[in-house]
Amino acid sequence: MNELLSRIAEQCRAEADNGKVANYIPALANVPPEKFALAVHTLQGERYAVGESEEAFSIQSVSKTFLLALALQEMGEALWHRLGREPSGNPFNSLMQLERENGVPRNPFINAGALVVCDVLFDLYQDPLLALQQWLSEESGSMALVDPETAQSELEHGDRNAALVHFMRSYGRINHRAERVLDFYCRACAIKMSTSQLANTMLILANHGVSPVSGKKRFTRSEAKRINAVMLTCGTYDAAGEFAYRVGLPCKSGVGGGIVAVIPNKMGLCVWSPPLDQTGNSAAGLAALDMFTTETGLSIF
Ligand code: DON
Repeated sequence: MNELLSRIAEQCRAEADNGKVANYIPALANVPPEKFALAVHTLQGERYAVGESEEAFSIQSVSKTFLLALALQEMGEALWHRLGREPSGNPFNSLMQLERENGVPRNPFINAGALVVCDVLFDLYQDPLLALQQWLSEESGSMALVDPETAQSELEHGDRNAALVHFMRSYGRINHRAERVLDFYCRACAIKMSTSQLANTMLILANHGVSPVSGKKRFTRSEAKRINAVMLTCGTYDAAGEFAYRVGLPCKSGVGGGIVAVIPNKMGLCVWSPPLDQTGNSAAGLAALDMFTTETGLSIF
């Protein structure tokens, strides 16, 4: 496995040259584009990695997976009264579809949907950010901290997200104060974790809701299946079809350049390379996951 990971790093790093580091949040623009890491953890406890796999980076939209997990584990299927679970076929921060669909977001992984999930979490937890950090720290095996500089930077440059919340509030789809929801959303995106920590968090989804890291049963088998399904169909926005075609795994990406992936019954993965393609997904990350599933023959198909 280590030999395969080294070959993947060698062959796929160059794909980063075809991408661009996110610069719409100034704090993200300073991350060196040549960073690369890939971590693969198995349910048997084996850990394989290449590159800077212990270096923490901004998880950004990868946190939407965990926001959904927190909401679903408390609320179950009733969550879907507040938002959909269909692919949007649109960029992650698009406003267009929302007006046509009465302010109901297509799914929990576009920004509008994640903002609704943040709103829901205020009804379920006294301090949702603390609940999220505790959950992540337990499931990753070490502390998951918010980077205050990134959170502030995103809050200051978050006009699009502010527009989304206010727009949905005008349809009565957001119950809490817009500023409160935005603040929580930005802090959740600004959590920093390493590929190794994130690969650990995916083991719970590979193991049908029972965490081999914390020993806790977080979801039912069916809930774990459903989170994996939404990751597959919506986790990489308007590139979800391309990811299913090339990678064939439930994945969730973030503009920090991280992508997590799940191989049910087997492994949790995380790759990190900051330059993004036009859909906001890590360019080298997609290439690396493509090569991994192609060479190992491990995919859900
Ligand atoms: O809402 C934003 O703009 C970011 N904090 C998160 C976006 C993100 O990571 C989308 N991912 N590909």
